[in-house]
Amino acid sequence: MSLMRRSPEELEREIRHHNRLYWIDNAPEISDEEYDRLVRELERLAPDSPVLAEIAAGAATTDELGDSVRHEQPMLSLDKCYTEEVLGRWAQNFEGPIVTSPKIDGVAVSLIFGGRGHLLRAATRGDGRQGEDITANARALLPIPGRIDLKKLGLSPSAARVNAVEIRGEVFLTLSEFERFKNVAASPRNLAAGTLKRKHPSADLPRLSFFAYDLLGSPAKSEWDKLALLGELGVQPVQARLIGRDELQDSYLEWVARRPTLDFELDGVVYKCDSLDEQARLGSTAHHPRYAIAYKFQGDTGESQLADVEWGVSRTGAITPVAVVTPPVLLSGAMIKRCSLHNLGIVRKLSLSLGDTVVVTRRGGVIPHIEESRGGGTIPVIPPRECPSCAGPVVVREDLLLCAQPADCRGARLGTLEHYVSTIRLEGFGPKVLAQLHDRGMVKEPADLYKLSAAKLASLDLVGDVLARKLTHRIRERRHLTLPVFLQALGIPVLGKSMAEQLALKYRSLRALRALSEEDLIGPGLRETTARQLVEGLARQGKRIDALLEYVTVEEREHDDGAVGGPLSGKSVLFTGKLMTLSRTEAQERVSQAGGENASGVSKNLDILVIGDGDSSLRGAHAKSSKQRKAERYLKEGHPIEIITERELLERIE
Ligand code: IVH
Repeated sequence: MSLMRRSPEELEREIRHHNRLYWIDNAPEISDEEYDRLVRELERLAPDSPVLAEIAAGAATTDELGDSVRHEQPMLSLDKCYTEEVLGRWAQNFEGPIVTSPKIDGVAVSLIFGGRGHLLRAATRGDGRQGEDITANARALLPIPGRIDLKKLGLSPSAARVNAVEIRGEVFLTLSEFERFKNVAASPRNLAAGTLKRKHPSADLPRLSFFAYDLLGSPAKSEWDKLALLGELGVQPVQARLIGRDELQDSYLEWVARRPTLDFELDGVVYKCDSLDEQARLGSTAHHPRYAIAYKFQGDTGESQLADVEWGVSRTGAITPVAVVTPPVLLSGAMIKRCSLHNLGIVRKLSLSLGDTVVVTRRGGVIPHIEESRGGGTIPVIPPRECPSCAGPVVVREDLLLCAQPADCRGARLGTLEHYVSTIRLEGFGPKVLAQLHDRGMVKEPADLYKLSAAKLASLDLVGDVLARKLTHRIRERRHLTLPVFLQALGIPVLGKSMAEQLALKYRSLRALRALSEEDLIGPGLRETTARQLVEGLARQGKRIDALLEYVTVEEREHDDGAVGGPLSGKSVLFTGKLMTLSRTEAQERVSQAGGENASGVSKNLDILVIGDGDSSLRGAHAKSSKQRKAERYLKEGHPIEIITERELLERIE
């Protein structure tokens, strides 16, 4: 029958039939060209046909989300070890090199690509044998190609149809992305899992990341080959190193040292025998393969008792719970007495009572939080009925408890001032000084800081004449701010450091930014909700911005030297230890040339601490400089300072 004589209904039936053969049964009967002709004809006759919408979305629809699917090859888990000795014994079972990669704390996912290289099915790991179908969400939300080029694997379409190609990897949230959601989710992993399984995606979903660590059905002979092939297919492979068996412990220490610089949570290092022949010889137990093992970071988790829950007010007016635990727990080298419970929703979810035994975790070795409660307590935690700072009314919005009048709330105002001062690096204005300035009516708004005289400052407790003069001098020094620092200092929730840097690079002046509408802002990497929050935030802060501009000069990008957009643009960099390849002055010059700023000391706002390769201090705790120890302390408090080696800095600059 000629194509031209078919009715839209017939075409729809036929296309659905071929979709099924292609997407589900993986056994197409017609060529791509014939199929495309059918679709084009349907587009001509019935442009609103639901079948066309189905094709645009891919064959699997949200109806299939959550269906149970079987893994042809089970997704096993990894054997674990905690000591060098056990790791060494494991490595004695096979020959040849070893591949190490970070063990990412995310959600394992399998992606199956079929005969023509299209993504046919995505599924979670589940119990390893049965997972959940997440195809529709994987297509929409994961940074993966919808189609891979099978020729790059040396496969002809028919070969791949019989033996589908499967990519496995970890879906996760970067820590910087999680930053935007930390008040609504307990951990990056929970949020990644929730997002993948979500049936009704909303506009402002977190951006998911994906690292692939396995490729099944390819001609690769080694793990290292697989990672290279994944890259060629346009799939991001997990970062990895190929090492000899005498480097087991060194490589572990290297990942420990890199951990604070990585923008994702890792809870150990995965070691895999590189050769696939050796892997086949080793085989698997029912739970895990013998060719791989995870060397877990130690001391990230501990137990204690919940002694109290304190409620504080953030600059946005959110009333946030903080757990106090006794006795304190030692986690990744720090004594944890208090840890954030994020928001009201999480207190409810954990159904906490004072006296409960709680599991405290420092995910990624950084921010401590309560993972779960084992019960045992008797006094339920009751959220406050009035704002703990201003005693005003509170409102509950979904998981958040909020002060109803943050503009008049002392806690929210102090939060705003503290954020401003720390962002512009105005030293000497700690919480106690700011609280006195606020309570004596001298500083209510950031702009008021610039009106302070030495005499006024000297009237405060603990501030003498000399310090007062120093402080006024520092305030004067902070009248010139770069655009990203100024933007970040305003404390608009979506306008964190990286967003401020991106906006400053793109729009260059504060005036241009204030004139933007939501539509102007929306684009790749900036969604509707974020655009709205930015525009509203800037408008709501109009008065504050105008008041600041009476005193502050915002340096606009046009006036910067040529290094704007350089690899270290907007980053403050500090060196410690003995440099091997450059003198200190040369190194500092290179930083400036790359658009960076040389910092004079370690502060919470330092971006990068470079440790000279002439030092072995990255490796051992004993030889660390005081700068490194201080930077690590700030890091543990959650300030994102990167600690890198001289070599890594040079790589970045070059
Ligand atoms: S290799 C047998 N490499 O850890 C599985 N897995 O407990 C071999 N994971 O479900 C997997 N980062 O999702 C491998 N760099 C990495 C990984 C990694 C995280 C997860 C994986 C698996 C779990 C095993």
